[in-house]
Amino acid sequence: MTEQPTLPNPKNEHIKIYVNGKVLPREEAKISVFDSVVQGGDAVWEGLRLYDGKIFMLDAHLQRLMNSAKVLAYENVPSADFIKKALRETLAANDMQDDVHMRLTLTRGKKVTSGMNPKWNQYGCTLIIIPEWKAPIYRNKGLKLITSSIRRNNPQFLDSKIHHNNLLNNILAKIEANYAGVDGAVMLDMNGFLSETNSTNIFLVKAGKLYTPFADSCLPGITRNLIAEKAKSIGITCIEKNLSMTEMYTADEMFTTGTEGEIAPVFEVDGRLIGKGEIGEISQQVQKLHLQLVEELGEKI
Ligand SMILES: Cc1ncc(COP(=O)(O)O)c(C=O)c1O
Repeated sequence: MTEQPTLPNPKNEHIKIYVNGKVLPREEAKISVFDSVVQGGDAVWEGLRLYDGKIFMLDAHLQRLMNSAKVLAYENVPSADFIKKALRETLAANDMQDDVHMRLTLTRGKKVTSGMNPKWNQYGCTLIIIPEWKAPIYRNKGLKLITSSIRRNNPQFLDSKIHHNNLLNNILAKIEANYAGVDGAVMLDMNGFLSETNSTNIFLVKAGKLYTPFADSCLPGITRNLIAEKAKSIGITCIEKNLSMTEMYTADEMFTTGTEGEIAPVFEVDGRLIGKGEIGEISQQVQKLHLQLVEELGEKI
């Protein structure tokens, strides 16, 4: 008998997963080998977080999912209401309220034959919801990063504004981070400016101001956009600009943003301590702001 692999959280052994209208135990939740996500990584996705029975910024996530599906010319895309109902059913079946992350994937669907041509997709989209127990763990941890040799996709090749499942670009960067024994990798754009990490957006703090890279090569993260917009409500200016590695190494503070990891302080990049190598004042203020926004902007499901 093969040994059972260790799960990051053993509670996730018994989760139930939604696939096209059915909520099934994880081992029974399956999609076709003819699905376009298997054939060509042809899918779009969102990561959602559930706080106290409410999904944070749900409409913004569904809007981004719809936009990604539109750019990729998906047909028979389920409506936002349909997806909300599916989320409700999935969370109810799992009796989940808090400390939950959901991966929502929409593929172009099953094909009548293998290949890349969307003409072979004649069954409509496939909708998958994987809800897992994942408490936020990065609030105080302090990340160590490296800078990857892999550049983040530029719109000339594959626009990072599409939140798609062609993740090899990010996975190659993460492999470099794994070999270096750190938490993640900063990815640069084609001109050598900071773009984002392999899975989160980046903010630097310098002389009391926030700086974040232009959203030209990075995913314009929902958390990134919200923090950039709301920082002024706590008296902090946020500036979007091209940022170099030198500006990163000499920043007073640095943190990453994302739905899953929230506001995560960065203590070290490429062996250089960022600031004092501990969570800074502004990062703490932004974390507080984020938790306040979580309370205000969650949708009861
Ligand atoms: C590459 C990448 N950057 C940033 C983010 C953070 O985006 P958000 O704040 O919308 O979760 C994600 C999340 O999926 C991501 O995949």
